[in-house]
Amino acid sequence: MDRAQAAAWPETTALRARPCDRLEGVVRAPGDKSISHRALILGGLAVGETTVSGLLESGDAMATAEAMTAYGAEASRGADGVWRVHGCGVGGLGEPDRVLDMGNAGTGVRLLMGVAAGHAFTSFFTGDASLRRRPMARAAAPLREMGAAFLCRGGDRLPLAVTGGRPLLPVEYRLPAPSAQVKSAVLLAGLHAPGVTTVVETERTRDHTERMLRVFGADVTVEDRGDGARAVSVAGQPELGPASIRVPGDPSSAAFPVVAAACLPGSSVRVEGVGVNPMRTGLFETLTDMGATLRFGNEREEGGEPVADIEVEGAELSGVEVPPERAPRTIDEYPVLAVAAACAAGRTVMRGLAELRLKESDRLAAVAAGLADNGVAVEERDDGLVVTGRAGRPPGGGTVATRLDHRVAMAFLVLGLLSRHGVAIDDAAPIDTSFPGFVRLMTGLGAAFSR
Ligand code: S3P
Repeated sequence: MDRAQAAAWPETTALRARPCDRLEGVVRAPGDKSISHRALILGGLAVGETTVSGLLESGDAMATAEAMTAYGAEASRGADGVWRVHGCGVGGLGEPDRVLDMGNAGTGVRLLMGVAAGHAFTSFFTGDASLRRRPMARAAAPLREMGAAFLCRGGDRLPLAVTGGRPLLPVEYRLPAPSAQVKSAVLLAGLHAPGVTTVVETERTRDHTERMLRVFGADVTVEDRGDGARAVSVAGQPELGPASIRVPGDPSSAAFPVVAAACLPGSSVRVEGVGVNPMRTGLFETLTDMGATLRFGNEREEGGEPVADIEVEGAELSGVEVPPERAPRTIDEYPVLAVAAACAAGRTVMRGLAELRLKESDRLAAVAAGLADNGVAVEERDDGLVVTGRAGRPPGGGTVATRLDHRVAMAFLVLGLLSRHGVAIDDAAPIDTSFPGFVRLMTGLGAAFSR
């Protein structure tokens, strides 16, 4: 398939990545998924017109855009590619007249549960088969303490209904496990409560919500509580002003071309405009520990977030022990890190990852099965993976079940490029969740795919 064919080819079917000699070129990763959800939601809670450039136009972000529209905000794309969001003000959303189908979007639904908790009507949420399997009680628990009422299938799953609290009470909530989604749900609910709402996290998680709340004019304070714990507080019932947001490239999407190039000696790839928030750069640190050549240039700040261009050159990598405390900063990148480990010399040990079983799929099981089917030595543990690479190309030759999981799909296509015999995936459609144009971008760098 040539580049023109790749451009016209919908990513909706089984797909095979062929072995590739080297990758070369300059690309931009699509907009950051976490930041895109937050821009649409906070734009809808502000008074006036928010502009968002570089918004991720994927299944997940569009589910959040549609939900905000159902709540009465307006979100639309201009001919210039810039999104304009007309918000209703904090507490000003209207009751949706339909069930909000969040598709595959875990972040979208959990953040919107916080917003819904602040409105004294009932919101109904559902999602696709993957999202309906994922736990929701973790976000509902603190929102119940604040006065919202939830009815969830089986007590913990979608579909669910939430009736907002009247009044909603400010709380101090200590996260039982690190989760930026739960922290964000509580902070978004806290916007609707009188007084100050505080979330205490003992392990730091991504802080995009805190950063963006400030950009919209909210009063957010962060206090060190010792032993690495931090308390994030938001003052309730502010008037949020409109903002102009530039969404950086998603480091979790940049991860795929970066790992592919890093593992192919002779490759030279630059990914421009990537978000390098320190809470998102765990993969890049681990790749560097493994001997990869990564350079960060043109470092700048855009819309309250650090951004850089990342240059990667291919090298022979070595296995490492990944520090478990790096997990919150690496969390979505373990599938593709396991692929890098399969190409490295020696053992790579990844621990502290029980949460991975609760992502879009059980990622520990999905990755272990996919690697084993492609001739890679892998041990699946309760909370981690041990991958033993033999240096050089892993065999490949298998077909991987993607289990409605976009990152499993892309990770195994990358394995195919790096393998001796190529790798097939059963369904490429989930890629649209976070990385529309993945095949086109990788083809532009020299990768080859076939049906
Ligand atoms: C996200 C937080 C993380 C991450 C997810 C996006 C966010 O989930 O895995 O893809 O945007 O807040 P948890 O909050 O469950 O750790």
